[in-house]
Amino acid sequence: MPASVPWWKRTTVYQIYPRSFADGNGDGVGDLSGILGKLDYLQALGVETLWLSPFFQSPQADFGYDISDHLAIAPEYGTLADVRALIHAVHARGMKIVFDMVLNHTSDEHPWFLDAQKGRGAAKRDWYIWRDGRKPAGKAPPNNWRSMLGGSGWHYHDASDQWYFASFLGFQPDLNYRNPAVKAAMLGVVRHWFAEGVDGMRLDIFNALFKDAAFSDNPFSWRPVPTESNPHGYFQRHVHTIDHPDTLAFARELRQVVDEFSDPPRFLVGEVFGDATTLRSYCGEAADGLHLVFLFETLTAPLHGRAVRKLIRDFEAAFPEPFSPTWVFGNHDRPRLSVRVRGQAAKAKLLAALQLTVRGVPFLYYGEEIGMENHAVPLHEGLDPVAKRFQLVPQPLVAWFRRRGILLNRDECRSPMQWTGAGNGGFTPPGVTPWLPLHRNSHTVNVAAQDADPDSLLACYRLLLALRRAEPALQAGALRWLDELALPPDVVAFSRELAEDPPRNVAVFLNFAAAPVTLDLGSLAGRVMVSTRTGARLPVAPRYALQGHEALVVVAA
Ligand code: GLC
Repeated sequence: MPASVPWWKRTTVYQIYPRSFADGNGDGVGDLSGILGKLDYLQALGVETLWLSPFFQSPQADFGYDISDHLAIAPEYGTLADVRALIHAVHARGMKIVFDMVLNHTSDEHPWFLDAQKGRGAAKRDWYIWRDGRKPAGKAPPNNWRSMLGGSGWHYHDASDQWYFASFLGFQPDLNYRNPAVKAAMLGVVRHWFAEGVDGMRLDIFNALFKDAAFSDNPFSWRPVPTESNPHGYFQRHVHTIDHPDTLAFARELRQVVDEFSDPPRFLVGEVFGDATTLRSYCGEAADGLHLVFLFETLTAPLHGRAVRKLIRDFEAAFPEPFSPTWVFGNHDRPRLSVRVRGQAAKAKLLAALQLTVRGVPFLYYGEEIGMENHAVPLHEGLDPVAKRFQLVPQPLVAWFRRRGILLNRDECRSPMQWTGAGNGGFTPPGVTPWLPLHRNSHTVNVAAQDADPDSLLACYRLLLALRRAEPALQAGALRWLDELALPPDVVAFSRELAEDPPRNVAVFLNFAAAPVTLDLGSLAGRVMVSTRTGARLPVAPRYALQGHEALVVVAA
């Protein structure tokens, strides 16, 4: 392995939604001690870096993405001692831990915002974005800026007769990054957690940090809703509210802060949206910005050979060395991967093989490894604040959004982790009411059931993750298309190549069609192959009948 490849480019990340992962104290809500108790499982699974959604002090109106104290831990998740114990235990296993930083906004119950509401002259007033309304009478919002969920992003504050801006929901007021005191305070938060030993940060809606200083109206657009490659929508182009040049400059400033912590190096991954070029701009021209950004097109791209090849090609073009793409098939905001593959295990295995062999950093979402499904919850029963906001949307429109990969009730992808077939799925003791109901399939779809089954999805993930850990070419090799094999368009074939002495390479064949294909592997003699269908490690035979939706990985013996 070339020493110059930093660990965060070679790693695999597993996202834990702490509330739903494991309940250590039996109150129905997942917590830090629950996670601590599952480290053996995670290590055996073979993931290397754990990303935890926020567990800081919060009224939990957006389940932690509304922080009221960035340095304190919400009691339902544990204590600072629990956080330290977790960091220590993760490191003791040679693993890494990433925190989720919400820099853009705070909770409206944050002491800063409570102070800011005291009036126009309050000490922390200018820590948020306040404006007079439009005349006459100031009763219209200051300008046309919309929130990321549609509707005006401005919220009227009666007592001071002014409006404050929120990129997301009204109880998440945006911080004013044009105030140097805000920037200093938030960089202080970042330094604080890195000093505690955290290995990286996932940056929540990073693209929204800076807005136009002149508060100009956003221009009109015909786009009704945002898509993965184009965040503009709700009939405007958000040119003055997202991707502001000052946000890109801030990415570089933040990078310098992160680089203060070099032993070991740390990393940043940004939640930003847009086309590959926009996304890349967050990493800086000279790779001096965010280390990684999420590429969410994977969440909605069609799953056939041509589309997958295009995805890889686009990512390769936009993120050449020293940049690195990311591969994501689910998170706490999106429909689960099992929806995309319609619960077909072979297809889930195929996507796992793609994610874990293609060039880039894979991000797995908890439960993906056992094929957990979305748990349909009617909008009006949703605890998710986004569900509450869209409660009046008629069902056909909900379905329309869903088809575009937009989940209006994010409870659906946050149901508790299914550990066993027992009551409450081993998430919380039987008899306790979990914060969200378990999926009804938890009796059959669970870790315990798949643990000993060599054909299970879990076994397949373990196999692929072990392969990736063992094969430097899969962690750091360049990607080369195996075009010379002239395979049918639905077979995506590439090799990962590392120019070492001796050179290492791994060939990957992904069959996105249902029809079998015969592969001529004559030139790959002396190697072994691993199949997502059989799991077996077999010597390469000259010809191999690749079945429908099967992935084959051929590695040096
Ligand atoms: C991000 C988070 C989402 C949260 C929102 C507001 O998109 O992923 O869960 O609700 O930001 O913080």
